[in-house]
Formats: sequence, structure tokens, C-alpha cells
Amino acid sequence: MAKAVIFHEIGGPEVLRLEDVRVGEPGKGELRIRVDAVGLNRAEAMFRAGTYAYQPSFPSSRIGYEAAGRVDAVGDGVVGFAPGDPVAIVPAFLMTRYGVYADQVVVPAGAVVHRPAGVDAVTGAAVWMAYTTAYGQLVQLGRVRPGGTVLVTAASSGVGLAAIQIANHLGAIPIATTRTGAKKRRLLDAGAAHVVATEEEDVVERVHALTGGRGVDLAMDAVAGPGVNTLVQAVAPGGTLVIYGFLDPGPVPLPVAPDFRGRDIRTYAFSEVTQDEPRLRRAERFINAGLRSGSLAPVIDRTFDLADVVAAHRYLESNAQFGKIVLTVRH
Ligand SMILES: NC(=O)c1ccc[n+]([C@@H]2O[C@H](COP(=O)([O-])OP(=O)(O)OC[C@H]3O[C@@H](n4cnc5c(N)ncnc54)[C@H](OP(=O)(O)O)[C@@H]3O)[C@@H](O)[C@H]2O)c1
Repeated sequence: MAKAVIFHEIGGPEVLRLEDVRVGEPGKGELRIRVDAVGLNRAEAMFRAGTYAYQPSFPSSRIGYEAAGRVDAVGDGVVGFAPGDPVAIVPAFLMTRYGVYADQVVVPAGAVVHRPAGVDAVTGAAVWMAYTTAYGQLVQLGRVRPGGTVLVTAASSGVGLAAIQIANHLGAIPIATTRTGAKKRRLLDAGAAHVVATEEEDVVERVHALTGGRGVDLAMDAVAGPGVNTLVQAVAPGGTLVIYGFLDPGPVPLPVAPDFRGRDIRTYAFSEVTQDEPRLRRAERFINAGLRSGSLAPVIDRTFDLADVVAAHRYLESNAQFGKIVLTVRH
């Protein structure tokens, strides 16, 4: 038997419960993983609350996208993994099928990557959602070049901090936003070239001042809501606005810059990388190289015991965090 976080109804953090579940042998193409740490994401809070891209199926639902641990058993047809290998689980599946908030899970081998030496389980559990989401936008969509400018909204989020690091790694200039001045210093220390506090400053004016009146080459927006109409004015003509989150649940107008000059506007989902084998392998090489060199290193805000998942979700939704929240597992 394994301990897994299960919920039986949509609701607040209190619906999450740690229950005994049966974990069988891995099937064809699957691995069983002994989980040591689980990375938390806004996606899971939304899934639990019934506001995510797909709905949990009841009477009981699993939850969780990313984790790290060691291979425990190898299913038929899986090559390249052996029991004991340190690994991380990448969000490449639906949580309804393979939720990973648990001390032991069976997952598809395609969603498992080797964990480089020196990357501990807590760090390994905090990498794959944030860095594939940021990588896809900066490298695959934005084709960001040295000297290019990138506006990262909600930059103190797991994805935001990963984007700042990747932008710096690429030689680009990350401009971070946060709502108030409270996290400004920490964002500068985390590598942001400039920080704009959106509730205290005019974002468009500030970005234009920082970019010689041009606007940024790429804006990565996790907030959306009515603010996209303002945000698009901070993007240079010929630049790209990617909307990848809905932290503001308000209606999203079609963003049109008053000058009508062309900007690419598109949405983005991490699955564009994690569920495309060649792209995932490219991302894996890029991210693991960054982890090894130290240019990429997830910012861990706080860890909670797996049994304290309710408190961890409450903390996630408080928005007090700076970086990732991770659950640790005691065996
Ligand atoms: N499309 C994809 O593939 C994908 C993948 C991963 C994540 N996401 C999305 O990316 C976003 C960040 O997720 P995460 O798990 O990395 O971060 P997270 O830890 O949930 O981000 C929290 C931060 O977002 C900011 N924030 C919260 N509510 C806000 C609001 N209403 N307006 C503006 N800022 C707000 C706060 O920063 P300040 O206090 O500094 O303002 C807060 O610290 C979420 O929207 C998530 O759904 C999308």
C-alpha cells in the first residue's frame, strides 16, 4: 500500500486527504517510483477547486504533476531505467490518471527523466513544470536572443523565477513584474534586470523607459484578465505576447495595441514541450545542463511534510511565496 493525497469533492485545501491506496506493478511502458519530494503548482490548486483546464473525476481523484525520487520497479518495454536510479517526474500526463502527491506512484516512463548527480529530490521536484513552461516560451516560441528584452509577469512564481534564470542564461534582459514593492529586492537578487510593481507604477510607461521607447521582444504573461489590453502596449511591434496563466480570473479581452502594428499573441501550455518527445529531450538537455552548471537552480520557498498538504495548499493560495513550495515524503 502507498499513501496518496486523494480528494472526493471540489473545494478548498481542506478537501485534500492522505489515504492508503493500492499501488500495483508497473504496466507496459511504466515505471514505479518511490517518491521523496513533490513540487506544488498553481495548476493543482485550480484542479482541486474545479477551475483548471480539465475536471477531476469522482468519487475520488488523485492530484499532482511533478515529483522526484528513485525508480522502484521497471515495467515491460522500458529501457534506460533501473531500480535505484534517481529520477524526476515531468508533467506529461493528466492528473486524473497519474496524480503524484504520494509516497509511491506508477507513471509512464515517457514522463520520467534522470536526475543529474548533485540534484537532490527537493530540487528535482521543483524543476520540470516551471522550467519546461519557461523554456517553451523563451526558446521555442520567443527565440530570445542575447540582448533581447523579456517581460515576465508574476515573476515571483515558480515559472517566473525559472524564466528570469533562463533569460539570463540566454543573455537576454528580464524585466520582472510583481504587484507591490514587497518582493522587489528579492526579484533583483534572483536575477531580474529591472522590477516593475504593477499596483504602484505604470507598466507601459516603465517598460518603454527601460527599452528606449520600443517595448519588449517577448512578454510572458501568467496573469491575463483585463490587464492584457495594457500589457500588449508594452510589447514592441513585431514582438510576442504569450498568455500562459489566469491568475486574474477576470474576462480576457482581445488584446489590441492602439497603434495596430503587428504583434504575435498566443496562448501556451507546458504540454507543448512535455508531451512532444523530441522537444522534451531538447528541453531536458538544456535544463539539465543549466542545473549542472548552476545557471539554473529552482528557488525553493518552503517545504511541508506530505501529511501537511492542506497547509501547503493554503500557503500556495496566500501568494506569500517566492518560488516553489515542495512536499517532502518520510518513508
Ligand atoms: N500554461 C502553462 O503551461 C502553465 C504552466 C505552469 C504554470 N502556469 C500558470 O502560471 C502561473 C504561475 O504558476 P506557478 O505555479 O508558477 O506560481 P504560483 O506560485 O502560484 O505564483 C504565485 C505568484 O503569482 C502572483 N499572483 C498571484 N495572484 C495574482 C494576481 N491576481 N495578479 C497578479 N499576480 C498574482 C503573486 O506574485 P506577487 O505577490 O509578486 O504579485 C504570487 O506570489 C499560474 O497562473 C499557473 O496556472 C501555466
